[in-house]
Amino acid sequence: MRFSDKTVLVTGAGSGIGLAAARAFLAEGATVIATDLHVERLEAISAEGEGELVCRVSDAGNCEAIAELAGWIADEYGRLDVLVNNAGFAHMNNPEQVDEGEYDAQMAVLLKGPVFYVKHLAALLRESGNGSVVNISSASALISPQGYCPYGLAKAAIHKFTEDCVVQVPGVRHNTIMPGFIETAILLDAYGEEATAQIAGVAEAVVPARRMGKPEDIASAVLFLASDEASYINGTNLVVDGGMARLNTAVSTLAGEVQPVTQN
Ligand SMILES: NC(=O)c1ccc[n+]([C@@H]2O[C@H](COP(=O)([O-])OP(=O)(O)OC[C@H]3O[C@@H](n4cnc5c(N)ncnc54)[C@H](O)[C@@H]3O)[C@@H](O)[C@H]2O)c1
Repeated sequence: MRFSDKTVLVTGAGSGIGLAAARAFLAEGATVIATDLHVERLEAISAEGEGELVCRVSDAGNCEAIAELAGWIADEYGRLDVLVNNAGFAHMNNPEQVDEGEYDAQMAVLLKGPVFYVKHLAALLRESGNGSVVNISSASALISPQGYCPYGLAKAAIHKFTEDCVVQVPGVRHNTIMPGFIETAILLDAYGEEATAQIAGVAEAVVPARRMGKPEDIASAVLFLASDEASYINGTNLVVDGGMARLNTAVSTLAGEVQPVTQN
């Protein structure tokens, strides 16, 4: 088991990519601390696999909650091997319509959270010997589809933060994953059912992999970057998008035909 004797924190583990990552770590024997804002989502996670599952309601966009969680991990476990900064939701708009409240909420969970998790957990991660941070960014940080403000901006910034940490928080590995379109609740919330089905159709037609991504596609990349097999990989950005961001047609089709429901 690749993660036996390792302690892993996955934020936003109640759904989608975080849930798939938590399950994959459990299957590999880890002690998984799964956090989310929504208690009912955490309660629905079953403790499969060899590992130990511990669920905590915690707001990944609130510095006080982050400091409290970090203190609890130090007291309870005295170690942390992997931090997966995954929690998120998408406020999508164009720059001319963006709302200040949405902007602040988006930056809190996608950017402030990861910064303060690193602040409070870096020492524990370093002590573990091969501590690793995996930040979930987005392929939207590479491209500029309609209506991705301020989401794409926050995702681009977390990429820069990751690079800074490589130099400024040594003794811990820091890597980023940029998922493409992955079948999770975040898309349904941002686009609605009809447009999400449209995105799936476009993905099947034009994305080089000929399908949308699954949460497990991202979870396996998270596990690799967090594992000892990746112990010399530091500052890498792994794009896991079936080739979408390399294909101008797919990008312009998705950007032109499908609009987020949060647009004014
Ligand atoms: N699905 C995609 O197409 C896609 C693409 C690129 C990047 N991402 C990123 O992947 C990550 C996971 O998203 P997902 O697709 O699995 O969506 P999801 O909605 O299925 O899961 C996100 C989880 O984060 C939790 N969450 C939201 N705000 C939180 C907060 N303040 N504190 C704690 N938990 C919170 C939600 O309750 C939810 O359980 C996000 O950072 C998202 O931006 C997703």
